[in-house]
Amino acid sequence: MSTLTKVALGVMGQLRPRPAQGEAQRAIKLPAPDRHGGVPLMEALAKRRSSREFARRALPLPLLSGLLWAAFGVNRRDGGRTAPSAINAQEIEVYAALPTGAYVYDAKAHQLKLIAASDLRRVTGYQDFVDEAPLDLVYVADHARMRLVPVAQRESYASAAAGAIAQNVYLFAASNGLATVIRAWIDRNAIADALGLTHDQQVILSQTVGYPKR
Ligand SMILES: Cc1cc2nc3c(=O)[nH]c(=O)nc-3n(C[C@H](O)[C@H](O)[C@H](O)COP(=O)(O)O)c2cc1C
Repeated sequence: MSTLTKVALGVMGQLRPRPAQGEAQRAIKLPAPDRHGGVPLMEALAKRRSSREFARRALPLPLLSGLLWAAFGVNRRDGGRTAPSAINAQEIEVYAALPTGAYVYDAKAHQLKLIAASDLRRVTGYQDFVDEAPLDLVYVADHARMRLVPVAQRESYASAAAGAIAQNVYLFAASNGLATVIRAWIDRNAIADALGLTHDQQVILSQTVGYPKR
């Protein structure tokens, strides 16, 4: 769908998901992430960049596993994560819009849990490439987990936490030959509706990931 059509539908509150492509599994168990792979950090930083041209090819499960773990996985025995959060509130939920459905990443179990059995990718942003790329991530802040953070600071802290996750994804992408772009030009109400979010949950940013278009 073109950006213009999306903007028009967004204005009318009509930006809606497509039917799922294939059967949505209630849970996708992810294989253990490869914690030793990838290029050296300085090389990944040298390659980090935003890309907006994606192939349609699906991401294999081991790659998806590594990507989500890098994004915001559990990396310590005490439940610590790969990205920081103020007072360790861990308030960001990572949602994954795949052609088969929309899922939330359960970091503790390292699996994806089905949220909506429809293809939400087109709803995750106004830019046309989000419809066809194999994965659109959505970073959602759960304000209920930030009760100890002063109300006036909650949004900025959550944005900082989502930014750290996004950079993890950028570095994983750079290290694995993937393309990615973080996106703020999104219809937050449409995404919240499609994901069935509560009033405590706030859509912060979205990020597209896939193989680069050749
Ligand atoms: C908060 C934030 C929001 C952004 N929103 C968008 C967006 O909606 N669409 C887009 O294509 N790029 C978006 N970008 C990516 C920037 O355009 C990109 O990072 C910038 O042009 C620098 O390019 P680089 O990432 O390749 O260094 C965003 C970046 C940030 C940090």
